[in-house]
Amino acid sequence: MTDIPPSTSPDATPGTVPEAPVPNTPVPDAPVDAPVPDPPVKDRAAAWHLLNQHTQSASLLKHALSVEVCVRAYGEQHAAELGFPPDQARAMEQIYAITGLLHDFDYEKYPTPAEHPWVGNRILTEQGWPEEIRHTEQGWPEEIRHAILGHAQYSGTPRISHLDKALFACDELAGFLTANALVKPTKSILDVNTASVLKKLKDKAFARGVNREDIRIGAAELGVELDRHVAFCLAAMQQHAEALGLAGTERETGQSA
Ligand SMILES: [Fe+2]
Repeated sequence: MTDIPPSTSPDATPGTVPEAPVPNTPVPDAPVDAPVPDPPVKDRAAAWHLLNQHTQSASLLKHALSVEVCVRAYGEQHAAELGFPPDQARAMEQIYAITGLLHDFDYEKYPTPAEHPWVGNRILTEQGWPEEIRHTEQGWPEEIRHAILGHAQYSGTPRISHLDKALFACDELAGFLTANALVKPTKSILDVNTASVLKKLKDKAFARGVNREDIRIGAAELGVELDRHVAFCLAAMQQHAEALGLAGTERETGQSA
């Protein structure tokens, strides 16, 4: 996102993410206690730990998780396009997932353009994330940090890699899709369809905090038509609706069969 994350707008929200191999599904309402030592291995679980060390807001955590789902899906697709074998594909997915998860991890404590995402970038560097992640053997020593810097328009960091572009393209859209779900009577993203999302993108009164131009630019940079981009991210979030807390309330309240 640019200067203000969707999660800071009243429309923003989401839930949790699964992740093929995410053993402990993150619980947005239960941040990790700060004094816990940093995990030695910089994997997705370590990213979740780091995010929780710096973020108390449930909506920010949910935003991170919804962006993770979308960016990870693009990573999975990209690995398939590149013909990666399973192990490399999983490594690429993890990089994409971690990037989505961490892209705003410093925002709660350091929200100004002078701080975010610069402070986060420094923390990642100090904790050795680039080097730790190098075991993927894909030559991405700074890929996560670069993508995170690039998602802030004002940073001046060019979006070059597919990951850079995927993160930027998914950031605002994930918040917008969440807003679309929350205005449904069921509050379920499963009741959202691409056509209605495209229509609401033109409705300037709806979810005004979401930057439509960033969404359009993001899709264009990624080389994907806007409708396909919306459909792709919507499908990714629908696939993880329950984990994201967007599976709906009707069933819970007994208002429907
Ligand atoms: Fe964001």
